This record gives sequence, structure tokens and C-alpha cells, in this order.
Amino acid sequence: MNEVTPTAEETIPILDFGSQYVQLIARRVREAGVRALLVDPATPAAELKKLNPVGLILSGGPSSVYQADAPRCDPEIFNLGVPILGICYGMQMAAELLGGKVKKGTAGEYGSAKLSISGTPEAAELFSGVPSSTSVWMSHGDQVYSPGNEFLPLAGTHDCPLAAMRHRTRPFFGVQFHPEVTHTPHGGKILENFLYRVCKAAGTWRMGNFMEISTEAIRRQVGTGRVICGLSGGVDSAVAAALIHRAIGDQLTCIFVDNGLLRKNERQNVESTFRDHFHIDLRVIDAEVEFLSALKGVTEPQAKRKIIGKAFIDVFKREAKSISDARFLAQGTLYPDVIESGQGYWRTAANIKLHHNVGGLPAELGFELVEPLRELFKDEVRRLGEVLGLPESMVWRHPFPGPGLAVRCIGEITRERLDILRDADEIFLEEVVAAGLYRSTAQTFAVLLPVQSVAVMGDDRSYNPVIALRSVDSSDFMTADWSRLPYDLLARVSNRIVNELRSVSRVVYDVTSKPPGTIEWE
Ligand code: XMP
Repeated sequence: MNEVTPTAEETIPILDFGSQYVQLIARRVREAGVRALLVDPATPAAELKKLNPVGLILSGGPSSVYQADAPRCDPEIFNLGVPILGICYGMQMAAELLGGKVKKGTAGEYGSAKLSISGTPEAAELFSGVPSSTSVWMSHGDQVYSPGNEFLPLAGTHDCPLAAMRHRTRPFFGVQFHPEVTHTPHGGKILENFLYRVCKAAGTWRMGNFMEISTEAIRRQVGTGRVICGLSGGVDSAVAAALIHRAIGDQLTCIFVDNGLLRKNERQNVESTFRDHFHIDLRVIDAEVEFLSALKGVTEPQAKRKIIGKAFIDVFKREAKSISDARFLAQGTLYPDVIESGQGYWRTAANIKLHHNVGGLPAELGFELVEPLRELFKDEVRRLGEVLGLPESMVWRHPFPGPGLAVRCIGEITRERLDILRDADEIFLEEVVAAGLYRSTAQTFAVLLPVQSVAVMGDDRSYNPVIALRSVDSSDFMTADWSRLPYDLLARVSNRIVNELRSVSRVVYDVTSKPPGTIEWE
């Protein structure tokens, strides 16, 4: 795990001690224009050197330095001659190795604290452009309580007098607070100062570089082997496929399973993008009958998910077997998925969202995984998609759950009910796009309820199903609020649905936030 792939690109390796914010550090560094790479915290200094480090960052983490099994870095990293920034645990661990003293603080600090910065030139290296009194985000029980003779204090808070320090002779800086989180309003500036004033980075990193480096890495990994990639119609698998295709061309075969639970025109959009535009070898499997018959009579949401997950694996397995020389399986796994599945250097599997694994493929398939997006956040994947030339409509597509319309067709799933839902959903989306609100909402969709309601049209009385409209604003999908869509937009959507789809009698708008409501209805 702690061998690295040499690179010529200037890089900030981030030694990952298990902080929940570690990818945020990487992302801030990338945003500032420097390549960031997470590495095993025990990576030997000689290996780190191969990464062409312009500086190093030691992340925070849940351990205490005085525990016997606390993770440590290779002490030789302090002799590499490159600047090092230790954050929280990273600062404490380095302090201990270099002559400072760490202990449990009298009061832990969790949340916002007021940082007072000294006016010395040493402090200016890290804090130039930051007000001398500023808010920072703290999350620690331990702290450095004595700098020894080796460290110079730079800033402190009420409960943590040594909240920032630097080594007197080596280019080591430590901060007890978290500059990477948005609750530290000048945190971006502090990281930039570290990168540009201290490390003297050139700042040439762009999404295009990521594309080039990943292209090379994919070629190295797969050689002349064949890769198969399951497309879902979503942005992650689409970007992964486009990137891999750029790297290995027709060694890539994509599989798209039409499970009959897709949104309107979804299959056609995938075909036109991947087959017609990118000229990717795309196999579309028509599995509607198989999925719908497996779902016949099933109304319980988790049972639907299980059936769909299993049917997907069966279909995919069958198709994959027919591509006899396939050795690799590509997946659009993003960093948040890596966290949720409890992977990473120090992570536990405490927080797995099992229902999100629908469509995940079991290891027994025997493929080696190609996951070129594992380091990225969703918005970075979207930027990469744009750089790769994917159409805007695909890059900015709202997330769509693996079980598809099955969890939006409440009650029994039939082709007829799915068609009504698809049409209503399409009308809603068309109007939201036309109103210029698609990009500002996070997820917008229709739900078909198993409830009949009365309508009178002309002289006819009808007794037909109800459509619920759901639109939420969210940045991470963990919490969400219902979108305050304009009334006249809702009125247009409602009018169109009841007029164009005679089989719907009534339209309602869901005004439930998450929590307590989930985004999906099932
Ligand atoms: P909830 O409904 O849990 O949804 O608030 C949060 C996000 O997850 C998506 N979601 C799923 N995605 N398989 C998936 O791949 C599922 O079973 C599933 N259930 C919910 C949901 O669309 C939203 O983006």
C-alpha cells in the first residue's frame, strides 16, 4: 500500500492519518492549482521523494500521539528538505517527533474558535492576508502544550494557546485548527500561503492534468487487456467511460442494461452519446421483461431493491461472460463512495449506506477494478466530464437511484404505471429546464402514488392516480430542503400533466425537508 507511482508533476502528498476531512484538504489544494495525492501515512520518505513533492501535508486523525499504536510518519520526511504542514493530529505527531509536548487539553475544542495571530514575520508566511483575529474550526481533545526549544508559536485561541507554530530551523508549520473546512473562512488563504509563499509551488495543476495523468495510469494498469464498463446513464459512469475510452480506445466495451425502469429517452440519450458521438463499443441489453416479471406483485421498497440488484447482477454477469477476453471492470466510484464503503487508509465501515450499493457487482465476478475517479468529488467529476467533451445534459444530470423508477412508482410496478410516471416526470423536467432552474435544483422528479382521486373533466368524472412532484436543493444529498419553485411553474406543470396525461387526476407538491423525509419516497 505504501509504494507510490513516480510522477514528474509537482505534487503535495497528503499523509492520511484518518481525518474525516482528508479529501477536503486534497480538494482545496487542487482548487488552488497544485496536484494533491493521498498517501499511506507510513510511506517511507524515499518513496515520497519519487512523487516530486513541493511540500507535504500531514492530516488530522482520530488517534492520540501518546497511544502506543498511534500512527506515525517516517521521521525521515523532516529531512527531505520540503516544507511540511501538520494539521491537528498531524501537528501533534510532528511536534512530538521534533521535541514539542502533547497532552489532553483541559477543555476539548469543538466548533468555532477565535484565533489571534502574532504580528511576526514568521506568522506572516502562513497568515499573510488573514485578519489578526479570525474564526477557525477546531475539533480536538489533545493539543501541543509545550513547543520545547524547537518551535515558535504563531497563533493561539483561548483554549489552545499553541494553535499554530513553526519549527525554528526546519520548514515545518503546524496548525491545530482545520483550514480545509468552510467554517474556517480564511482557511483557503492559509493553505494558499502554505502552497505559494512557503512551498513556492508553480500552481500549474488543472483538471486537464488530471485527465492526462489518469489516462497514463489507466494505460499502465490495463496494458492491452479488455475493460468492460457498466453505464447507468448517470454522470459518474459516463465520465469514467469517456476517460477510459480516451486512454484505451476500443479495448473498452460498455454495457448498458435497459431494465425498463429508466426515465424517458434515457436509453436513446446513452446510445447517441456513447455510440454515435464517442464511437464506443456499446452493448445495450434489453432486460425490461426480465426485471418487470421479477418485480411483479412486489410493493415493499427494500424487496424491490433486492430484486433489482440481483437481476442486474444476473444480466450483467451473462453479458460479461460473452465478452470472453474481459479482465477489467471499470466503475465510476467517487471519493464519497470510497468513504461510505469504509475503505481508505484508516476508515472503519461504520457508515455504510447499503441501499446505495444496488448495481454494485460482487467480487466473485473475478474482474480487476479500474476506478479512475476514486479521488474526486462530484463537482470535480462534472468538470472532468466537461473537459472530456461530454454533453452538458449528461454532465449536469441529476442523480438517479440504481433501482430507478421502481422506487418512484409507489406500490406495484407495471409497464402501464411506469409509462404514466415517465411522461409526468418528463413534463416536470422539461418545465424546470425551460425555467432555467434545473442546475440550481439538486434532484427533481415525479412520483406515482398508489392513490386514486376524483377529477371532473368536461362532463366526465374520472377516478385516477395522483402524481407527486419532488424537487430538492442539496449540496451533499445527506440533508436537503424542498425547492421553493415558483407557483406559476408548478401551475404549468400541473396543468400539463392533468391535460396531457388523461390518466392522472391530481398533482401535489412535496414540501418535506430531509431530515426527516428522505429524498426518494421509498
Ligand atoms: P435518500 O432517499 O436516501 O436519497 O434521501 C439520497 C440520495 O441517494 C439516492 N438513492 C439511491 N441511490 N440506490 C442508489 O443508487 C438506491 O437504492 C437509492 N436510494 C436513494 C437518492 O436518489 C438521492 O440522490
